[in-house]
Formats: sequence, C-alpha cells, structure tokens
Amino acid sequence: MVVKEKRAINREILTELKTLEYRGYDSWGVATIENDTILVEKDTGKIGSTVLANTSDSLAGIGHTRWATHGGVTKQNAHPHLSFDGRFAIVHNGIIENYLQLKDELQKQIPNLVFKSETDSEVFAHLLAFNAQSLSVEEAFFKSLAKVKGLNAFVVLDKKNNNVLAYRHGSPLVFSQNDGGYYFASDAIALLPYTKKVYFIKEGEVFIGDRLFSAKTKKSKKITWQMLDLEVSDLQKDGFDFFIEKEINEIPTVIEKLISTYKNQEKSLLSLLNQHDEFFLIGCGTAYYAALIGQYLLAQVSRIATAYSGGEASLFLKNIKKSTLPIFLSQSGETIDLIEQVGFLKKKKRKLLALVNRISSTLDRESTLSFHLQAGPEISVVSTKAFVAKITAWLLICSSLNKQLKATTKNLALASKNIRKLFLAENLDKVAKIANLLSIQNHVFVLGRGVHYPIALECALKAKEAAYLHFEAFAGGELKHGVIALIEPGTWTIVIVGGDEEDANILANAEEIKARGGKILGISPYFHQVFDEWLSFESVPNANVLLEAVLVQLLGLYLAKAKNLDPDKPRNLAKSVTVK
Ligand code: AGP
Repeated sequence: MVVKEKRAINREILTELKTLEYRGYDSWGVATIENDTILVEKDTGKIGSTVLANTSDSLAGIGHTRWATHGGVTKQNAHPHLSFDGRFAIVHNGIIENYLQLKDELQKQIPNLVFKSETDSEVFAHLLAFNAQSLSVEEAFFKSLAKVKGLNAFVVLDKKNNNVLAYRHGSPLVFSQNDGGYYFASDAIALLPYTKKVYFIKEGEVFIGDRLFSAKTKKSKKITWQMLDLEVSDLQKDGFDFFIEKEINEIPTVIEKLISTYKNQEKSLLSLLNQHDEFFLIGCGTAYYAALIGQYLLAQVSRIATAYSGGEASLFLKNIKKSTLPIFLSQSGETIDLIEQVGFLKKKKRKLLALVNRISSTLDRESTLSFHLQAGPEISVVSTKAFVAKITAWLLICSSLNKQLKATTKNLALASKNIRKLFLAENLDKVAKIANLLSIQNHVFVLGRGVHYPIALECALKAKEAAYLHFEAFAGGELKHGVIALIEPGTWTIVIVGGDEEDANILANAEEIKARGGKILGISPYFHQVFDEWLSFESVPNANVLLEAVLVQLLGLYLAKAKNLDPDKPRNLAKSVTVK
C-alpha cells in the first residue's frame, strides 16, 4: 500500500495479512520505507498476536504471508526479500521456473552477490536492482519481467520513488484506490477496510504506482473498476470458534439462496448444456469429489459425463470432441491446475462452464458461462458450504435437464430444513462422541456406492485435512477386491447409506466387515442392526447426498476439536492452490 499522509501502515498491513493467512501461513513479513531505508520485520509461523517492533509511521509498505514452495519454512525464506542494494523489497506468489538460471547469471554479473534465502523470489529482487542500475525503474521492471518464466505475481516496494510496482501473470492480484492512497492484495477481502471499488488485475498487466500498463506493449491501460459483493462482516466468525463452524451453519441459507436465484440462470445454462452431448468435469480435492457427484447425477438423467481431478486432466482434455462441454468446479476460481486448462481451452476457442464461488476470480472471468455458487466468502481452508453448493447446483441443473425442477426445488427446501436439524445439540453431541472414538484410531475406512462414493471420499479428506487422521475411502464394490484384507478385529469402517438402490449392497459390505470383527459407523436415514454407531439424518427424495455431506463435514470438524486442532488453518495447507 502507498498512502498520501504518513500513518502506521506496517501495522495496517499486518492486520490485513491476517485476513489473507488462509492462503498460507508458514511465515509472514512486512516491509516499510523509513528515512530512505527499507525496514523488514518477518518471522515463521502464524501472525497471531504479533506486535511489530517498528512503531514509526510510513508512506509505503508491503507484506506477505507465505505457503512455502522453494525453500523451507525459515525466517530467511520469509518474504519480503531485499535487493542487494537495499533499494527494493519484493513479495511474490507463484514459481519462477528459471530461477536457477537467473541466479547463475546474476552471480556472474554482480561480484560478491550473496543470496540470503533459498527462495526463487529473492532472485527477482536482485534482477530488478541490477537492471535498475542502468535503466529507469519502469524499463528495469519490464525487462526483468520479460526474463522470468512461470506463473507469478510480484509486488515491489521501491524506496527511491516511495512507491510500489506490481505484476500479475497467473497468481491473482487485485488493485484498489481511495482518497488516502492505493492498495494491492492477492485477495480482495484484504482491501475491504479501504474501499469496495476494486480492479482485478488481468494476465500480463503491470502497475507502476497507481498507473496501469500492459507488460507486453508497455502501453498504459484504462482501469475498469467494479464493486465488491463482500461485507467486512463476512470476515467475522459471528461467535463461532472457527470459520468452518460458521460456514457449515450457513449451508441451509446457501441452499435456499440457490433455489431462489436458479431460475435467473436456468435458460442460459440449458442453452449451453444442450449444445453438447457429453461433459468433461474437472475439480481438485473437494471440488473433484463434487465433479464426481456431478458425473453420477448426470448419468441418472442419461447424460454422459466424466470427472477428472485437475492435476490429471490435461492429457484427456486434449482429446475431447467438439460436442463435449468442459465444466470446471472451483470455490476460489484460482486453482492453478484448473487455470492452466482454462488457458488451453481459450487457445482452442472452446466453450467452458464454471461452477465457481468467487465472483471475478480468474475462472469466473475466463469462462463462457459461470454458475455462481453464491456461498459467500469461504475462509476456512477446509471447504464445506461451497462443496454443498456445488452438489445443490448439480441437483438443480440435472432437474432442469430432466424437467423435474419443481419437484427438486421442493426436495431442496426440505433438505435445507432437515440439515438445520443436524445442528441441534442432540445430534452434535452424538457427532462429538463418535469423533472422540474415531480420533484415536490409526486407520478408518469409509465406504460408499454410486453417488455416495464421492461422499465417502469427502469424509476421508475432511478427516485428513482437518484432523490429520488416516481415513481412506473406497467404492463399496472394491471391498472384496483387496481392501477387505485391511480389516482386523476392531477396525472401524464408516458406511454411507443413502436410502436408495445402493443400500442392499453397501449394507452387505458392512456385514462382510462385521463378520471379520470390524466395527461399523452407519451414516444413514435409518438404523440397521449391523451398525455399532449411527449418525442419522431425515431422508429427502433424491437429495440425501446433501445431508450426508453435512454430516461428514461435521464429523471432520469434531475430529479436529477432539485433537485440539485449528480446522481453519491446517498444517501445510492453503485455501487456494495457486502454484503448481
Ligand atoms: C477442500 O477442503 C480442500 N481445502 C481442497 O481440497 C480444495 O477443495 C481444493 O484445493 C480445490 O480448491 P478450489 O475449490 O478453490 O478450486
């Protein structure tokens, strides 16, 4: 940020970094210009209740919260990084693919150059300073950017001009301005306290101070402002211990909002879908499981769809027919494995449907059509309401294709009502009791069949990421093809019973496990004598996956609580994986 009147901007930056910590929290750092010197304060770990040593006021500063890519989690590797001449400090998101080559070149050009960190980011600081010795800072910035390979966003503090330079190619970056100054952030939520008027910086764009340019042509460009659809209150926990708790409790409202707004987008959706006879679905992590659910639900309305995880899709995406529609699913709309495929599709001039939560994200902006999940900001790294919003989107879309929208809308409203009952103390106490029991197991297996198999996958992922527990999900049909060898007396298996044509077979699987001394937790609308423990929900025709999803998410939350962990910021994770 750069302000017109000196003020405590290092403390402001540190406060706003906290709203960005969900993107990575291995380490943090702040740099400001004080009397022609750049002062840097940084450390490993989360910001927490850190108080900065530097109490002076400043005009310009930058900050960073890191998810380590190149170089371990150390204080030296924390951003910002200073250039060898102390003129620039940089913060960086992305990967400089050719940093070793650049490093070699710099070591030949700059005698006694000492790299203080193991990061690729620091290389850019020295490269810029080297070029700025003989060029204007603008020319040096353009020249340095042209040498960098990979998907990156840089924000650079220049003490000579008391300003900031920024560049976006791949990793997200947002700009805003008010009477007091101008600001950059990797997520617009950090700019909310200053203004709701923002500019989402596009691929290959550069800011020199508050002026926008194209990195390629170096010509200035017009800023097209837009208003944020977020409130500062969206970023509060509203009395819950964790964001994940608040976000799970918001799920009924999210479903009701999708029901009430779906008609506005049904026509354009159907028009795009009906131009194609097959669908190619991609998502990562929880979004991949939502893609798998889409595959099953589309098959139930006789449409052919295949789901791929983002990191495995590119080989297959290359071969899709003209009549196949790619459908990408993402909460953040910035997951790099999807964004790279978006670039490929754009080059091929292919149409693309996005099921995306963050409006104005790269995926939202680059898609032919976006189904906005309207779940509101999802701050917890562990995705919950966005996942249920994707399932709700699929149920609505498939009901349109099947001309059953009225019945589905009624079922969704009932599902929302029944989900609220899962938040009653009686159910939460049962979830907590079962979580305590499972939280001490070395391994827990989760079985599901048909559309309930992705729910089993989601259950296992929630336990892994929120509570670091080894839960492993399998399709029920795979049990006797090897998995059952893992069952020993006392081994716990969770079975997802969806109240549909898969029940008999998944319950038979449970019996086979039980016969070998295994223990069964049933997630089911009715009790069965094979269950040792039972988490129940009230059945809703053709929408039980919604209730199953909420139950497995509550289980993940209570597993974290049982282990006194923070499910909002699990170790090693970040909310949006914007680097390969
Ligand atoms: C979900 O709980 C995880 N945090 C992770 O799997 C996430 O779903 C994945 O990284 C995809 O993120 P996106 O939906 O923002 O693309």
